[in-house]
Amino acid sequence: MRTQLPPEQLARDTRFNRITTADRFADERTKDVLESRRFNPESEEASDRARRQMHGIFVGEIQALEGSGRTAFDYSTDETPFAMKLDMARQCWDEARHVEISIKLGDHMGIEVGEYSEAVTLFEAACHPDPVFRLAGVNRALEGLAIDVFTTMRDFGGEMADPVLHFAEDWMLADEVTHVKMGSNWLRELTKDDKDRQTRALEFQRTVDGLFNFRGLRGETRESGIQLARKFREMAGFDTSEIDEIVRMAEEQRAQYAQSAY
Ligand SMILES: [Fe+2]
Ligand SMILES: [Fe+2]
Repeated sequence: MRTQLPPEQLARDTRFNRITTADRFADERTKDVLESRRFNPESEEASDRARRQMHGIFVGEIQALEGSGRTAFDYSTDETPFAMKLDMARQCWDEARHVEISIKLGDHMGIEVGEYSEAVTLFEAACHPDPVFRLAGVNRALEGLAIDVFTTMRDFGGEMADPVLHFAEDWMLADEVTHVKMGSNWLRELTKDDKDRQTRALEFQRTVDGLFNFRGLRGETRESGIQLARKFREMAGFDTSEIDEIVRMAEEQRAQYAQSAY
């Protein structure tokens, strides 16, 4: 079997609708940032927004499964220790379970597979030739985003008095904290004698974090569309300065976007 599978070769059936990462970030609905930012259960668009987000989580889980599978397989044990492969294999198991949970949550919320588009941005980050960059971009930046999104959706489920959504998101959240922690641990271990490689990987993570702030939709205030989950990020090996930096970057992006929009 080949290593380094390109995103075009991911297997999908005809229900899925692929769009490019560029198109995804050009989506005008991210104007949510300036208007109804918070996931407000009382707003009219709450249900469509929650369904769109849930479909995004579903396709993200598929790609997280594919990405961790590639990282378990693509490298020799000289490049990635066997214990790291075992962690990636455990992540595959978790992500496969998350795909199943997400399909069932989709049924629960009235979502069809392929009703919304799929951009394979997560898998693209998992195609980096250097495994350390995959740990930074996927396990820390994107799985870190999953921590924030699941916390937001869990709380939304609570506000909607929907115990199924609340409970399922809480369970997946617990796994995502573990996946980010694996990323933090292995990134440090693999770069302990190569600070330059570590710095470059963390810069890559910062770029991915910046993109997934969604022009400032993410933040720590109650009004934020995606709640940055500081406590869970700390449990997953982020230090305070790293979390502060994401918040600072998001605030700057929100201010810039507000300026350009008016
Ligand atoms: Fe997951
Ligand atoms: Fe994950």
